[in-house]
Amino acid sequence: DKDKKEVFIGFSQSIDHDIWRTSMDHAMEVETSLHPEVSLKIYNANRKSKKQIRDIEKFIEDKVDVIIVSPFESDSIIPVIEKANAKGIPVIIVDRKINSSNYTAYLGADNVEVGRIAGKHIVSLSKGHANVIEIKGSYNTSPGLERSLGFRQIVNQYPGIKVITLEAQNDELPKNEFVKALESYSDINYVFAYNDVIAYQSWSVAKQKKLENKIKFIGVDGINGPNGGIQLVKDGVLESTVLYPTGGSEAIKLALRIVGKEIVPKNNKLNTLLIDSLNADIMSNQFDKITIQQSDIEQQQSIIKNQEKKYSTQSNLLKLLISL
Ligand code: FRU
Repeated sequence: DKDKKEVFIGFSQSIDHDIWRTSMDHAMEVETSLHPEVSLKIYNANRKSKKQIRDIEKFIEDKVDVIIVSPFESDSIIPVIEKANAKGIPVIIVDRKINSSNYTAYLGADNVEVGRIAGKHIVSLSKGHANVIEIKGSYNTSPGLERSLGFRQIVNQYPGIKVITLEAQNDELPKNEFVKALESYSDINYVFAYNDVIAYQSWSVAKQKKLENKIKFIGVDGINGPNGGIQLVKDGVLESTVLYPTGGSEAIKLALRIVGKEIVPKNNKLNTLLIDSLNADIMSNQFDKITIQQSDIEQQQSIIKNQEKKYSTQSNLLKLLISL
């Protein structure tokens, strides 16, 4: 349809080589492919705040229609986001929050709730008596702070639950400290890790010490597919994981509503839930179905495009013949 204006969306991703991030990028690409008038450009800041700022600067220079940002840190990128906002370019923040309200919309699950779900799971499995190692995320990210906050809100109500807290730097298990904690406390029953990758790393270390069957491991993210958290639950490596959706397709949908001049809510909450051995199969079946439907749609889109090409060559040929 020639009347449709082209739409340019710029997405500033913060972290590379990470299954949760790549699945967010993929969800955005799939959603974009369903809208032929939309093009999506993704820059990855590779964990560097300075690069993320430059990437967003570039989107401003290129005058994209909407900028989607998944922040690496909550503070350093505030000025460039406020700059985009001042220039009238809508900005959608996904996942990690920023300490400013000068953006168009935020999209993400509630990380305090994520922490509470993990806390309640430990309370109910242990009946309020447990020794826990909490591996919390970095303090300069909102998920790091909020997951820990929600977790503490619950477990601190139970004097029978003792928690040792370690901090993960750069989304990695603090291996030496974790080994030390396992060696100094012989009766650890639970590990609550900031995400599934760290939960898996802690399981591997515990396995080397033949402790993996004495401890229940709980993570966050619940990505579907071969190396994701849902599979780890099915394999019995993790006791459970708390689903933390990436919001990739929702971010594109939200961007298109904004381009369509719709007034959108400032805060857009994604759902979270506990995944354990009782629902892991159902969850992965549902996600698999969605993936199959998406690839069916993508295939149909490319068939339509080919038909359109054929049709336009034929009609050009016809015009040529008529003009002769
Ligand atoms: C991936 C990740 C996820 C986590 C999110 C929080 O880079 O660490 O595991 O849920 O980022 O920002």
